[in-house]
Amino acid sequence: MKFFVDTAEIDPIKELAATGLLDGVTTNPSLIHKSGRDFMEVTKEICSIVDGPVSAEVVALDHDTMMKEAEVLRKIADNVCIKVPLTVDGLKTCKALTEDGTMVNVTLCFSANQALLAAKAGATFISPFVGRHDDNGFDGMDLIRDIRLIYDNYLFDTEILVASVRHTNHVLESAKIGADVMTAPPKVIHALFKHVLTDKGIEGFLKDWEATGQSII
Ligand code: G3P
Repeated sequence: MKFFVDTAEIDPIKELAATGLLDGVTTNPSLIHKSGRDFMEVTKEICSIVDGPVSAEVVALDHDTMMKEAEVLRKIADNVCIKVPLTVDGLKTCKALTEDGTMVNVTLCFSANQALLAAKAGATFISPFVGRHDDNGFDGMDLIRDIRLIYDNYLFDTEILVASVRHTNHVLESAKIGADVMTAPPKVIHALFKHVLTDKGIEGFLKDWEATGQSII
């Protein structure tokens, strides 16, 4: 499963990139606002740190303006992936951009039928929002399971990018179902490293090492 980080903050992106486990980055207008940075500038900086896809979202609601915005965004770097909402105009834009060789991430997906539409429009990635789905009384993982089944039934190439990931269990369940990608905030990715027995083991080894009185360097 590919790992994307869902942030527009440079430091956590650099730190995760150094671990070698970062395959891409997703941003959205809320994350850009939170970063306090200029959209174009920060997207360019992120694209220079990570080789994989960096999602940058259009904000227009109509196809023509989406295409104009996408034109500006895709000039930032070769690894920019244009993010469009799951609407009629969003999918028209998806079709036009992917036919032209541009990566597209269709976002704000909350049903398997919507995911089917995005795949038919040629989306590179579909982003089902599992956390927000859970928040509204549905099971986000059921949504991922349904999309996996449908995409496998018809051999769609569209990659399932699990978004709105809130905790490590979302990552585990997504991997078990066979989602292609997950995007999570840095704190959730860091939580994946943690295990109480790892911490306890390090503590025990260090205590015994100190007792030997030796040093490696
Ligand atoms: O990037 C879209 C998605 O991951 C948003 O997550 O936590 O705001 O629902 P969240």
